[in-house]
Amino acid sequence: MAMLSPPLLLPLPPPFSSPGHRFASFKLPRNSTNGALLGGQLAKRHGLVFAKAPSYLYATREELDTVNIAEDVTQLIGSTPMVYLNKVSEGCVANIAAKLESMEPCRSVKDRRILLRAFGAEVVLTDPEKGLKGALDKAGEIVLSTPNSYMLQQFDNAANAEIHFNATGPEIWEDTMGIVDIFVAAIGTGGTVTGTGRYLKMMNKEIKVVGVEPAERRVISGENPGYVPSILDVNLLDEVIKVTNDEAVEMARRLALEEGLLVGISSGAAAAAAISLARRPENTGKLIAVMFPSFGERYIPTVLFQSIYEEVQKMKGK
Ligand SMILES: Cc1ncc(COP(=O)(O)O)c(C=O)c1O
Repeated sequence: MAMLSPPLLLPLPPPFSSPGHRFASFKLPRNSTNGALLGGQLAKRHGLVFAKAPSYLYATREELDTVNIAEDVTQLIGSTPMVYLNKVSEGCVANIAAKLESMEPCRSVKDRRILLRAFGAEVVLTDPEKGLKGALDKAGEIVLSTPNSYMLQQFDNAANAEIHFNATGPEIWEDTMGIVDIFVAAIGTGGTVTGTGRYLKMMNKEIKVVGVEPAERRVISGENPGYVPSILDVNLLDEVIKVTNDEAVEMARRLALEEGLLVGISSGAAAAAAISLARRPENTGKLIAVMFPSFGERYIPTVLFQSIYEEVQKMKGK
């Protein structure tokens, strides 16, 4: 905790000053002699000129513990906001609040290929015919031959579901003040629905947890059993709703047009599932929390916004 000087009053120049508001008050660290030129910045911003900035106006970053500035980008992960859906949910009998994981620093709960390259990763592609197994085998080989390497194993790594138990679940519980009735999330690795669902059910066993999966690849809901990730706790799911790719894309487009929420295809799928739940008479008056895992800009070259992209490319000024 830095030692703070008594609040410093700086006169505000016009247009910031008004008859009732002529000074700005700042609490500054005492005895700081080096570091950021805070005083100089404040003085400049508020139109003041110091012949020599007093020594108490200088501060190191450690001393500036009252400012609301993250130490680095990792501190910006989590605590994403929730927002009600208003237009796409017309005719629903329950309220739907979306949790915008799309507002994470990488705009998603997960990273993708181009992002990884931008952050300096070497990307190795494997034969699409060999599917996920081919990719996992190759990753295993790379780990064996690369010192200090580590495979995250997001489909099998318990830490995946744990972070949602420790962060996403409590965030939804706190932001809804514990009145959430149903939690809806699309299933990829299953980490989100498992960790968040487990936390919410621990807080209130009446909360229903609903997974969403593509209708074209029904892995959990039966007819077409496939790879079920080991971290996905299927027993936690009260229901699995199938949404077609077309429905998901259509809903993601509507979310942008009608709600001003630019989100990805899985968010569209989750919203479509949440809306179908919100229409059921037995859910009248309930609060449904739905996860929006990624931001829409990343989907511009995909089926989601491709036609708009092409249309805009062809536009010519007159
Ligand atoms: C972009 C994106 N992120 C996250 C998820 C879900 O996350 P999880 O892997 O935790 O199941 C999905 C699910 O469909 C997704 O499409």
